[in-house]
Amino acid sequence: MPMISRAPDTGVWLLTTPHTSYALRVDGTGAPCHLAWGPRLTPSEADALVTPAAKPASSFEGRPPVGEELPVDGGTRYGPPSLQVRYPDGSRAFEWQPTGHRVLEPAPGTAELVLEFRDRVHPLHVALHYTVREDTDVIERRTVLRNAGDQHLTLLRADSAAWSLPQLSGYRVSHVTGQWSAEGQVHRDPLPHGETVLTSRRGVTSHHAGPWLMLDSGEASEQHGRVWSAALAWSGSWRITVQRTPDGRAGFTGGVGHEGTWVPLAPGEEFTTPVFAGLYTDGGFGAASRAWHAYTRRHVLAHADETAPVLYNSWEATGFDVDEAGQSALAERAAALGVELYVVDDGWFGARRDDRAGLGDWTPSAERFPDGLGPLAETVHRLGMRFGLWVEPEMVNPNSDLYRARPDWVLHLPGRERGELRNQLVLNFARDDVADWAYDWLTRLVAEQGIDFLKWDMNRAFSDAGWPGRQDGNDRLWTGYVANLYRVLDRLRADHPGLRIEACGGGGGRVDLGILRRTDQAWVSDNTDAVDRLVIQHGFGQIHPARAMSAWVTDVPNQLTARTVPLRFRFHAAMSGLLGIGGDLTRWSEEELAEGAELVAEYKRVRHLVQHGALHRLSGPLGEGPTVVQYAAEDGSETLVLAWQRGPRHGVPRSPVRLRGLTPQARYRDVRTGDVHHATVLAEYGFRPDLPSGDWASSVVHLVRGGGDEG
Ligand code: DGJ
Repeated sequence: MPMISRAPDTGVWLLTTPHTSYALRVDGTGAPCHLAWGPRLTPSEADALVTPAAKPASSFEGRPPVGEELPVDGGTRYGPPSLQVRYPDGSRAFEWQPTGHRVLEPAPGTAELVLEFRDRVHPLHVALHYTVREDTDVIERRTVLRNAGDQHLTLLRADSAAWSLPQLSGYRVSHVTGQWSAEGQVHRDPLPHGETVLTSRRGVTSHHAGPWLMLDSGEASEQHGRVWSAALAWSGSWRITVQRTPDGRAGFTGGVGHEGTWVPLAPGEEFTTPVFAGLYTDGGFGAASRAWHAYTRRHVLAHADETAPVLYNSWEATGFDVDEAGQSALAERAAALGVELYVVDDGWFGARRDDRAGLGDWTPSAERFPDGLGPLAETVHRLGMRFGLWVEPEMVNPNSDLYRARPDWVLHLPGRERGELRNQLVLNFARDDVADWAYDWLTRLVAEQGIDFLKWDMNRAFSDAGWPGRQDGNDRLWTGYVANLYRVLDRLRADHPGLRIEACGGGGGRVDLGILRRTDQAWVSDNTDAVDRLVIQHGFGQIHPARAMSAWVTDVPNQLTARTVPLRFRFHAAMSGLLGIGGDLTRWSEEELAEGAELVAEYKRVRHLVQHGALHRLSGPLGEGPTVVQYAAEDGSETLVLAWQRGPRHGVPRSPVRLRGLTPQARYRDVRTGDVHHATVLAEYGFRPDLPSGDWASSVVHLVRGGGDEG
């Protein structure tokens, strides 16, 4: 079946992915209307969904609030508009007038439908884009708006897409909230009637909410049930409004900006929204997560097929106390442990001795690195590791040469105080001169200092978000900032194809599909306590793959929680993502260094499963029993089971977990013990991770297919 087809009689567009269908049509009024999103349909089955418009329940009802592809402000519509425009005459309505359609093949195995419209009265053109691929059920949607007139328009709301669900018996919404060092807390709540808003008003994705959601009828579980999910690829302020209507429907609309942030559209200007991708899966929350992970690895991350190196980061070991001798000593020890990428964190530049000064002055501190970073880069390279560096290009300390020279470069409102967080101000990246300045010093730094990896940090939310001196600047900056951030990252990657980048937002303040398209991994949280981390990683993994999840082993008592757990437990927690080490290796005992080296070597033997395999959450991190996750090779040839037990309580039954993704009837050999297991027993009757008794037990079991007669 073609990925995109149109029925000549009914005008139904049918979008087909490997396991799902999406159908829509332009109705008699010219509005694009939703028909189906769910299991596969044939064209004639999709046609059968076209029914005469239901009569409104009463003369008090207008168009149904759920069921349009992009509900506008205009006509008898009373739901939250996905598109709301202010025209020069002050009016706001939009009337759909179809002007054409196109079916494109932007790449092999990819098809794109473009439905084109304009407003019936004003010269505003709107194109709805749908991209489907033959290797994923994720459907990417975005909207392109063009001002074809000669007067300025304002997009009061320009969402990427609205998604409608089929009518279900009930509705539940899954999403994450959080705060600094407690990101990714998963909630599964009944969907309230009315409107529910998930949003960031911070100018950045935020620690406080993730720009994604999952909806189900209330009956889905980790392994079973139908789930409709969506994720917005945007790293600035955002808003998703979910609706549950009195007539029993549910849907949601999402896009850039929080309420009251507008997108100016000058004559001739075009605004392309970010992608708001949607996914229907049958197979519970686990299947939804795995489908997002596979999509992200194939179509979002640029280098997901590479093996990510074991990393060392100096932040928790040295804080701002960074110098050539100290870093070289750590690098020697890191290399001996098996580390492959050494990253110098904050404190290497200007007058940066703490968080009160120096941000913005991106030259190596002459006092700490008298000969620049070259000698340290050389040491790191000589030790066989790649060299990485922390940067925070979007920020400035008022106590810096940059701020003294360019106080006008920060977001501010004339006549009002410039509100500081962490003693820093936000540079207005929407200004091309600011973005160009950042690009210039970054590209030079990378080339001149032999940098292989950047950790790109962003440690505070917007405030006083003004852009004096620029007509409509205060509106433009919300989207312009992110567009320029993306532009700088894209240019850097084009200039330096070997450069890899870690996204960081004071921990997990900037994790979304937009930033992951331009970086290679994300620092998930500043909370490195292995126990808390299991919960945070559980939240991250709902949508994002382990291939992008940076995780470090740090020292105990943990600097944030004061908790002490064994080195092994800390390693195992970090080994379920991209293993990094962040402890002060100069203080590790010989035994700790030896155990660490063994665990690094073990990670290297199994990391292909973590980084490229399919994640199965066998037992979550919030119950009393062990937390168990499994990473299975796509072809069933190998599998890895990681388990952690906090403190066992006597008498609490320990149920076995049923392994997934195994080849039926095969046998699997435990690489460490040599024990051979039947797949049927592992999958149907269960497997008990071999957890030693006592607090903070953990284990890693690597099973490889083969080992004895099959059957
Ligand atoms: C916040 C990051 O999340 C930390 O890992 C560290 O890089 C600090 N910033 C440095 O200021």
